Amino acid sequence: MRKLLIVFGTRPEAIKLAPVIHKLRSGNGHWNSVVCVTAQHRQMLDQVLKIFKISPQHDLDLMKKNQDLFDITSGALSGLRDIMLEEKPDLIMVQGDTTTAFAAGLAAYYLKIPIAHVEAGLRTYDKYSPFPEEMNRHLLSVLTDYHFAPTEWSKSNLKKEGIQEERIWVTGNTVIDALFYTVNRQNDRENTDRFQSFFRERWNIDMPGKSSSEKLLLVTGHRRENFGEGFKNICSALKEIAQVRKDVRIIYPVHLNPNVQKPVNEILKGIPNIYLIDPLEYEPFIFLMNQSYLILTDSGGVQEEAPSLGKPVLVMRTTTERPEGIEAGIVKLVGTDKEAIVKNTLNLLDDPSIYDKMSKAINPYGDGRAAERIVEIIDSIY
Ligand code: UD1
Ligand code: UDP
Repeated sequence: MRKLLIVFGTRPEAIKLAPVIHKLRSGNGHWNSVVCVTAQHRQMLDQVLKIFKISPQHDLDLMKKNQDLFDITSGALSGLRDIMLEEKPDLIMVQGDTTTAFAAGLAAYYLKIPIAHVEAGLRTYDKYSPFPEEMNRHLLSVLTDYHFAPTEWSKSNLKKEGIQEERIWVTGNTVIDALFYTVNRQNDRENTDRFQSFFRERWNIDMPGKSSSEKLLLVTGHRRENFGEGFKNICSALKEIAQVRKDVRIIYPVHLNPNVQKPVNEILKGIPNIYLIDPLEYEPFIFLMNQSYLILTDSGGVQEEAPSLGKPVLVMRTTTERPEGIEAGIVKLVGTDKEAIVKNTLNLLDDPSIYDKMSKAINPYGDGRAAERIVEIIDSIY
């Protein structure tokens, strides 16, 4: 039996690696898969571990309030050295572009352990946007042995950078595996009632009924390059939308980062049609995406999920490493300029022709079988 060490630290990595972990555990017994979390995130990671029933064998418990990049990189690097020396894996697996993923890749390289990278080849080619994710994924690609690209476009980036084609596989994004699994479990009356009661009891939020003229806007945001001015603009835009449109309810599960919490609470607290709530567990979050009319976000994962649900997305960033959603017409980059956010939101609220074009369900990021492909590929290599 071969040993695979899977390392992750944040909410989105956990969501996107859960399907691979499940596949490995229900597989042919070829792999002894060991999970190590750095816990770069704590509560937001634990929410996902609980939903997907994953109990890590190792937990570095790194998170500190308002940590910086040096804290995460140095803590993960030295912590992972000890775990890798103890476990002696044949292969390590990381996902995406977080500092945990990069530090795990570097630690594995120092110990000459081969690396598999899930969600490889995403690029903006703008060094500071998103920061530090763009550099994390570049550096990881240089270190990686087996590149699992979600789309043909991400594969073409890797090829352009000189990575041998036989080391790149287009698998789809595992985020769609997790999404389909969750949506399939939610499409019945019993679950709808369960989630409706959850939102009513916890936050006094009623979902607008099918015939209601009320519209639900879902917001998320956390990018480091938006801290400061960017977040102030985003919040001012949301405030204006809520004030001019009483038919709109804005639900915003606020990321726990203090750089997000502070401006959001200062600018938006107390506005009657804005609900500032805690980060949601994955299942109620997907339910809420499905109930929403429109999504405003700077999240990577949400940009990938929304097209599959047929929900228009306004991306509050100036760059994206996920152009497929834009090409499909579901996603629009609006930046962090207040007027642009307000104008684009009002257009979608008021103009059915714009809304209809942006609300077609398509799957540019995968077919729900990415984890299966990834496991088949590593099975064939080892
Ligand atoms: C991290 C990743 C980013 C990813 C995002 C997903 C890096 C550098 N950043 O950014 O790529 O898109 O996660 O959400 O790898 N906090 C809590 N509890 C939690 C999580 C965070 O309190 O469960 C607070 C802490 O004060 C922490 C801060 O948020 O210090 C920042 O967390 P961190 O992981 O450094 O940055 P994110 O913005 O979450
Ligand atoms: N998500 C969640 N609860 C929330 C907000 C987001 O479970 O309150 C999920 C979302 O469905 C997606 C992932 O978290 O799968 C995105 O995480 P985030 O936006 O923090 O990170 P990014 O994708 O930008 O790296």
